[in-house]
Amino acid sequence: MQSNTPSRDSFSGKFGIIAAAAGSAIGLGNIWRFPYVLGENGGGAFLLIYLAFVLLIGVPVMISELLIGRSAQKNVFGAFRKLAPGQHWYMIGVMGVGAAFLILAFYSVVAGWTLHYVYLSITNALAGNTPDEMIAVFEGVQSSKGMSIFWTLLFMGGTAFIVRSGVEKGIEKYTKILMPLLLLIILILNVRSVTLEGASAGLDFLFNPDFSKITPDVVLEALGQAFFSLSIGMGVIVTYGSYIKKTESLGGTALSVSLADTGIAVLAGVAIFPAAFAFDMAPNQGPGLVFVTLPNIFNQMAGGYLFGLMFFVLLSIAAFTSSISLLEVVVAYFTEELKLPRKKGTWIAAGIMSILAVLCALNGSVFGAFDYISSNILLPLGGLLVVVFVGWILQSKLTRAEIEADGKKAKYYRGFVFIVKFIAPIAIALVFLNGLGWI
Ligand code: PFF
Repeated sequence: MQSNTPSRDSFSGKFGIIAAAAGSAIGLGNIWRFPYVLGENGGGAFLLIYLAFVLLIGVPVMISELLIGRSAQKNVFGAFRKLAPGQHWYMIGVMGVGAAFLILAFYSVVAGWTLHYVYLSITNALAGNTPDEMIAVFEGVQSSKGMSIFWTLLFMGGTAFIVRSGVEKGIEKYTKILMPLLLLIILILNVRSVTLEGASAGLDFLFNPDFSKITPDVVLEALGQAFFSLSIGMGVIVTYGSYIKKTESLGGTALSVSLADTGIAVLAGVAIFPAAFAFDMAPNQGPGLVFVTLPNIFNQMAGGYLFGLMFFVLLSIAAFTSSISLLEVVVAYFTEELKLPRKKGTWIAAGIMSILAVLCALNGSVFGAFDYISSNILLPLGGLLVVVFVGWILQSKLTRAEIEADGKKAKYYRGFVFIVKFIAPIAIALVFLNGLGWI
């Protein structure tokens, strides 16, 4: 479908939007990254700072992005050009498309490991491994280039397969099935984890704040994690916003998606830390937390085969529903700005991303650099520019009309404007510059 015609593709209704947007937000960021970043940065204290960022900054940034997309009815690049013609704000779109390439590149490598662990779980290949052998398996996955590339490309192919079918028949159709399944699996894992003997120490770690661990770096990490996890600051939400009908509430959508995302991150922590403490595993294992620590736990646990398999299926689902949103940012840009047909645009975008992904699979420093540049620089910077744009550049008549397009008065409008004009830009700028060591 030619997306900038009057028959522009869109989500069919509320559940479709929430499933797709929450599907984008909930991903490896919640289940793989959040628990290990929290584990390395002081547990409960990190959680508190994270929650504050989500509510105070994340939700307003998400509303801003949704309204930009919906009022412009365009991809992230075209949206800024349409709303601020003749100015350079479209650079936010350029950054967004660039960030999508970088993020999906390293994201699909981790997602590839996840698919590999689904395979290892099915074949029960991890059973009986000692902790050292488990580390060796994970290191083997990373260092065996052929295997890493195979799974990464398989994942990218699957993502492209869904995106090529369009918004309603592709993205919405699959996320509507996958997201409820994900919730069910994580709830089962939660029950298993908290009913283990010795589980309470893990809950303590997650919920009891230790503020001595908090440094400017940690605060930047929390902000970067919030942006990454909510999929904000780079155009996914602008793009999805452009597929939302005028009758839907933007504030309601942003709040539901942010709460669902945060809820799943906390549930991932509840699935992992009590089990880790119950089996005397260190919580601060970095990126290996879910690939080394967890399989060790599954090995010692009654029903471990099934729970392990469910966990990695869960992680794969979460990864797919996020990666399709990243690819969609680029595909929307290709189809609307470069006028490529959707299928062709999808395969070209996925092809370029595959090359970058292979670079990440081959070289750990490229992987680390893509992760750092996107989460700690491009996303906060993108978010900062978005709130400045909505707070200071867009006419408030337009902003208000878009937020209230569903016919309901937005009581929170004044608070929203105050946050996007003052609080969010100052907070993001301070945390960003401080974290980089510039102030
Ligand atoms: N939010 C996704 C996650 O938490 O895994 C990752 C992600 C998707 C980041 C889309 C950024 C983005 F634009």
